Amino acid sequence: MQSDIDRILISRDEIQQRLDQLADEIAADLRGEQDGGAPAEITLVPILTGSMIMVSDLMRRLPLRMQIHLVSVTSYPGEATTSRGAAIEEALTSLPDSLESRHVVIVDDILDSGATLELVTSLLRRRRPASLRSCVLLRKQREQPPSVEADYVAFAIPDEFVVGYGLDFDDYYRNLPDIVTLRRDLLPPEEPA
Ligand code: IMP
Ligand code: MG
Repeated sequence: MQSDIDRILISRDEIQQRLDQLADEIAADLRGEQDGGAPAEITLVPILTGSMIMVSDLMRRLPLRMQIHLVSVTSYPGEATTSRGAAIEEALTSLPDSLESRHVVIVDDILDSGATLELVTSLLRRRRPASLRSCVLLRKQREQPPSVEADYVAFAIPDEFVVGYGLDFDDYYRNLPDIVTLRRDLLPPEEPA
């Protein structure tokens, strides 16, 4: 697996340091939502599968009372490295019918075209949360900006295909501790823009 790596883009230490800052920022914003003295009711919504490592590191840095509900989205079937549109996987999704009076934070691994975040945002808005924020580990700096922006971004990266720290290629490499690029010969040929 290690020999498949081209280069390390963001190291495990850099990720942990940045998450300290980001968690402080998110915690401060959520504390600011308190309702007439009562602490805000918080719900974290990680998007599976890519955000599983990120959310486990992030939530332990948020010393706030919170619930967690999962949403599963597929957008890169098999060995695709460009989005094929986003679809909810109902069987792995555990959302309550209503999120009324709850302050919701979506957590995803990477914001690319924005299709995933847009889909999950609309799914959650229908459940009428008191507030809705989104947090992504990575945001790709694409020529064409994403259809939606995230409220919190840990790192902006060049428009390259990356794996590790939860991100996959054909469901492999999620367990790499750093965020890396793969050797070019392992990826499918680049598609014309
Ligand atoms: P979007 O819907 O185009 O914004 O893409 C978001 C989803 O595509 C993410 O949740 C990832 O699962 C996946 N994705 C986008 N770029 C990459 C990448 O460079 N490596 C691995 N997965 C990616
Ligand atoms: Mg994903």
